[in-house]
Amino acid sequence: MSKPPRIRVPNLPEALSASYDRVAENYNEMIVKSKYGGPTWFFETCQSIAKPEIRVLDLACACGNVGQEIHRRNPSANLIGLDIAPKMIDQARKTNAYAKLLVHDLNMPIAAVPAQTIDLALALGCLEFVNDLEMTLKEIRRTLVAGGEFYLTLQCHNPEDLNKPAVTSSGPFQHYAYTANEARDLFSKTGFDVKTLKENTGYVASTGFATPYLFIEAVAL
Ligand SMILES: C[S@@+](CC[C@H](N)C(=O)[O-])C[C@H]1O[C@@H](n2cnc3c(N)ncnc32)[C@H](O)[C@@H]1O
Repeated sequence: MSKPPRIRVPNLPEALSASYDRVAENYNEMIVKSKYGGPTWFFETCQSIAKPEIRVLDLACACGNVGQEIHRRNPSANLIGLDIAPKMIDQARKTNAYAKLLVHDLNMPIAAVPAQTIDLALALGCLEFVNDLEMTLKEIRRTLVAGGEFYLTLQCHNPEDLNKPAVTSSGPFQHYAYTANEARDLFSKTGFDVKTLKENTGYVASTGFATPYLFIEAVAL
């Protein structure tokens, strides 16, 4: 079987932030409708959120659902949230769960977060939009202490399976997907050890497409 072409066009930050700004007020309805599974997996898998004063970086926090639940379970957690969409950050602010919230594009260095100051990072349902995943992973690794934990999802690609294309799109932007081997290579290049990697449906798109994801638990070396 010939491999489908892997054509990637960089996503424009303006297109991403405008699209997510538009849905900020009904984001909660959207995630229920789409059976979005990232947060459920995170809370089932992560054992460390109860640690006193744990420093958490919630990358692409959207309207702050995950941070709010972390704060409910552990009020001593120190949370930083960031997202490219200002209206998502406005919603996240209403949760009162975060010590700091930033409008930030994950394609850029996270200058507001010093090196080795984070114990737990999470990037759920967002890394499919970044243009240079290796650069973004290096930057996340910079923020983490050695032994720090990283929970993330990636859209899953398999060149042998037409249901797992390398690129899909929604509106004006693309979703980039990775094979399990590509993901493992990227983690070993950027200073992480992959603890668990499993494949499952991440969410069901409005077209009915059950979007395959990799759910990954990694540790900073
Ligand atoms: C599907 S939501 C996931 C939100 C949240 N992590 C969760 O699990 O509920 C995707 C979020 O990623 C944000 N996002 C997309 N591209 C981004 C980028 N380049 N930098 C920062 N945030 C981005 C969007 O604004 C949106 O809030």
